Amino acid sequence: MTSLPAQQPLSPDIVSLPDHEQHARQRLDGNAWAYFSGGAADEITLRNNRSAWDALPLWPRVLRPLAGGHTRVPLLGRTLAHPILLAPIAFQRLAHPDGELALAYAAAALGAGVVLSTQASVSLEAVAGAVHPDPGRGPLWFQLYLQPDRGFTQALVQRAEAAGYEALVLTVDAPTSGARDRERRAGFRLPPGIGPINLAGMQVPPPPRLASGQSALFDGLLHHAPTWDDIAWLRSVTRLPVLLKGVLHPADARQAVDAGAAGLIVSNHGGRTLDTAPATATALPRVVQAVGGAVPVLVDGGIRRGTDVLKAMALGASAVLVGRPALWGLANAGAAGVAHVLRLLRDELEIAMALTGCATLADATPALLHGDQDAPASRQPS
Ligand code: FNR
Ligand code: LAC
Repeated sequence: MTSLPAQQPLSPDIVSLPDHEQHARQRLDGNAWAYFSGGAADEITLRNNRSAWDALPLWPRVLRPLAGGHTRVPLLGRTLAHPILLAPIAFQRLAHPDGELALAYAAAALGAGVVLSTQASVSLEAVAGAVHPDPGRGPLWFQLYLQPDRGFTQALVQRAEAAGYEALVLTVDAPTSGARDRERRAGFRLPPGIGPINLAGMQVPPPPRLASGQSALFDGLLHHAPTWDDIAWLRSVTRLPVLLKGVLHPADARQAVDAGAAGLIVSNHGGRTLDTAPATATALPRVVQAVGGAVPVLVDGGIRRGTDVLKAMALGASAVLVGRPALWGLANAGAAGVAHVLRLLRDELEIAMALTGCATLADATPALLHGDQDAPASRQPS
């Protein structure tokens, strides 16, 4: 790691990601807290993301040889030190003045992958510059929201390529935001000086003039929403692998593979889009089965413990992403806080592996969750 911005000290009573959440809630103002922590509508999916991981039992295994074990995993032609990446989160400077830059330094130092949001509040070139010098860094991916101006979108993709991003993550579950009641109740506004800096200069189409009876959504915004045809377009304008983020239904997973997706991220946007959508732990095994090992399947949503990471791997994930916990670390202690979050999660993963008899993550099979001798004992290739 080259240099870290100045840090506030991390409180010694923070020993887990839930502790980070409690402290971050004290530090952040109500505006930022509503934006970061909220989900859609009644937040049923937001809650179920957590409870679905909790509901899966891990069966301990005993007396297995564990010396020399490790958390390394293969992913898209690389070997990662561990299977934990940071999910794309917009406007991280709401949590800390260093925002995405601090996150990138911490992730690089801890060997975690970074997925930078299209709506980042720091330039994509600066983030790439923070990650690249670190020899132990994880993958650096750019999350893409297709913009109504496809020419601008293409130029953005070219900037990401030129800056050294290694894959595009096209988010497909948010043609519109969900009904964000918590944000609306709080009257959420971006403060001056924080905004989607990488979209500066983009032409935004004027709002449509709607005749009476027309819908702002169907007769307006959704005219610009991506469709399956745009996957072919995107692949034609980039040499980078394209992963799709926000796939839950096995039929969509199959179609994504047929459309040439290089990987899938099972996600419900952290419960922020369609409320009552299934928990990601519920959707993951169905997507893994539908894809049949053709491409890696990653997952995010509610991952807060090393045991959650191990359960995701046992269900066939190639890696996991964490969203909000990185923001909590950022709010609590800048880059050092994010590094602490990643360290805790990885340490907990190692403990969970040791206590379930897994020397490596190749040993994380469905048998860990089912406790019977006939459960499939091999993992899909990634
Ligand atoms: C997000 N997420 C998101 N996803 C994306 O593709 N682009 C984005 O810009 C954002 N922005 C964003 C902001 C905030 C405040 C949150 C909480 C989430 C979704 C994110 O990548 C991820 O899917 C979820 O956050 C994962 O769930 P957990 O780990 O937060 O429970
Ligand atoms: C969100 C958008 C930016 O979830 O993806 O807030």
